[in-house]
Amino acid sequence: MDTSAKRSWDFQMNRADQPRADQPRADQPRAMESGTALSEGDPVADAEGTLLLDDDLINLYEEKEKTKIEAILARLDDELVGLGPVKTKLAEISSLLLVDRMRKRFSLASSRPNLHMSFTGSPGTGKTTVAMRMAELLFSLGYLKKGHLVAVTRDDLVGQYIGHTAPKTKEVLKRAMGGVLFIDEAYYLYRPENERDYGQETIEILLQVMENQRDDLVVIVAGYKDRMDKFFESNPGMNSRIAHHVDFPDYSIEELDQIARLILKDQSYYFSKEAEETFREYLNKRMTQPHFANARSVRNAIERSRLRQANRIVNSQAEKVSKDDLMKITAEDIRLSRVFLDL
Ligand SMILES: Nc1ncnc2c1ncn2[C@@H]1O[C@H](COP(=O)(O)OP(=O)(O)OP(=O)(O)O)[C@@H](O)[C@H]1O
Ligand SMILES: [Mg+2]
Repeated sequence: MDTSAKRSWDFQMNRADQPRADQPRADQPRAMESGTALSEGDPVADAEGTLLLDDDLINLYEEKEKTKIEAILARLDDELVGLGPVKTKLAEISSLLLVDRMRKRFSLASSRPNLHMSFTGSPGTGKTTVAMRMAELLFSLGYLKKGHLVAVTRDDLVGQYIGHTAPKTKEVLKRAMGGVLFIDEAYYLYRPENERDYGQETIEILLQVMENQRDDLVVIVAGYKDRMDKFFESNPGMNSRIAHHVDFPDYSIEELDQIARLILKDQSYYFSKEAEETFREYLNKRMTQPHFANARSVRNAIERSRLRQANRIVNSQAEKVSKDDLMKITAEDIRLSRVFLDL
């Protein structure tokens, strides 16, 4: 992982740990007593969450409105380029949980679905981003009580000395309860070459919690597909607890281009006509170079272009600067990249 990737990762972690303003807090009243029609902690359970009679009807439209699932899925579609199969999976899970909510109101048998997942794909393909959206969605549907995401790697879970691992893992689990525990590069938990590796202890605790505390926690393990496959082969217990395997494909150059436009728009910048072409050239070259990290490389490239644009403006002889000057990234701002120099 290059340092820029690491920085972006930290950003994700920090963001993930902050409570989101758009959600009710966990302490806000919203739950019905457990054992009634809707599960405890349901964010939208209210007077309407009462049990229904056999010939009652549920207003599907209202139900969708209440859970905001359509809005969340639409936002996901707008804000994330491509990822067709991933979006389909999320829509399917939402439908399942919505149907489950409605079934409960008729007292129909509803076993809590297993939602532990595995997200596989190359760096920068959107795994962490989608995991955060997943947490939000599961909260909206009443599946999770808090809907926050705790992102960790091996070092956060496994101790270096005897007796350190269990408390470390349990502490993380405690923090993640009511939300999603996202374990990046989960295969590093398992180190068969090292007989005394404490990672196995973490795996055993995780397996127990994934089985027994499904009501409180969704675990998402993530990493490269081939290493993840091996990890599951060596850990059949883990494999059997993961209900959904979602593969994140690499982005095409068109998708990367679209991602760039989205990021620029979001930050009130745009590419000049020539810059658009130069960025295509940039992508073509960058994609074949080492440490290419899909959407993250695009985000980093834009950061560096902004830096060059700022430098160009500040050091120019111009007396006056327009709004457009401040928004426009020119071909020059991109062409000064190392990616072009390396040739
Ligand atoms: N489909 C997409 N549309 C728009 N932006 C995206 C998309 N996928 C990823 N991004 C952006 O790219 C950056 C990297 O994404 P993210 O961190 O989710 O990738 P990742 O798969 O978790 O990477 P890693 O494996 O390196 O942790 C984020 O800033 C994210 O907003
Ligand atoms: Mg990630």
